[in-house]
Amino acid sequence: MENILVIGAAGQIGSELVIALRKKYGSENVFATDIKQPPADVLEGGPFQILDVMDNNRLIHFVIRHKITQIYHLAAVLSGNAEKIPLQAWDINMQSLMNILDLAKEVTDVKRIFWPSSIAIFGPSTPRQDTPQYTITEPNTVYGISKLAGERWVEYYHQRYGLDIRSIRYPGLISYKTEAGGGTTDYAVEIFYDAIREGKYESFLSEDTSLPMMFMDDAIQATIDLMDAELEDLSIHSSYNVAGMSFNPKQLAEEIKEHIPEFEITYKPDFRQAIADSWPACIDDSVAKKDWGLNYKYDIKCLTKTMLDGIKEKLS
Ligand code: SER
Repeated sequence: MENILVIGAAGQIGSELVIALRKKYGSENVFATDIKQPPADVLEGGPFQILDVMDNNRLIHFVIRHKITQIYHLAAVLSGNAEKIPLQAWDINMQSLMNILDLAKEVTDVKRIFWPSSIAIFGPSTPRQDTPQYTITEPNTVYGISKLAGERWVEYYHQRYGLDIRSIRYPGLISYKTEAGGGTTDYAVEIFYDAIREGKYESFLSEDTSLPMMFMDDAIQATIDLMDAELEDLSIHSSYNVAGMSFNPKQLAEEIKEHIPEFEITYKPDFRQAIADSWPACIDDSVAKKDWGLNYKYDIKCLTKTMLDGIKEKLS
């Protein structure tokens, strides 16, 4: 039997992953934690506790008391927010990971860990088209530097201590249940809310800024598939490239116009433009496909319809 700890259960990924894990492993076996209250279904559908991953003593006690066997560590300061508080973001992103890695080394019940990396580990010198699994990684954002350092530590703990830690370099994640907080790819979520509420959107990225994106259902499925894979099938112990789909703000606006013909988009790039320009436009995810059967259900059309329907229902 698995006892699962999710850290960051109130966040964009956590609030959906907890529900999926509870379906798979049973509600009582998935312990949702965060420093803030999660959505009602996470709070009411199984155990929830306020827990700060930076509080190492409480974290260790929690893991031992609940005989935790798997940890999903999703708490992080995202790219846009991290640029506003560089040292604090570095501290939170790194120390929280080190707390988890060191704990897993000591507490033998913990058999498997999931920790997300990001397309932010790439930088301006990385090839932007079909970015390979192995390539130049010179990130120039605090978030990207912390994720790249995290990847190195994750692989180190695997090689040196035999820990089973699995990771995906998520592209921009699009969902309507919980809004994203402070990322560069957030435009692709905000645009849907503003399209419905205002009929227009001012994009903080230019019209031709292509980035890799993924609908949350596909991201959750990919996460579960990777965690279910046999360890011997995994050739990557840092983090797997995952591509999703690639589009730019103009293309997404065109799709929205198919549903809301009067929708208008304007462009006013801010500091996040430079971050987006340093990231890949599209990714080569062939290693993930080969090792653990990565696949997707959503394309831009399906994503657009699902987002508009979902947000309309949520707001009504
Ligand atoms: N979506 C994240 C961000 O924009 C990238 O991992 O920060």
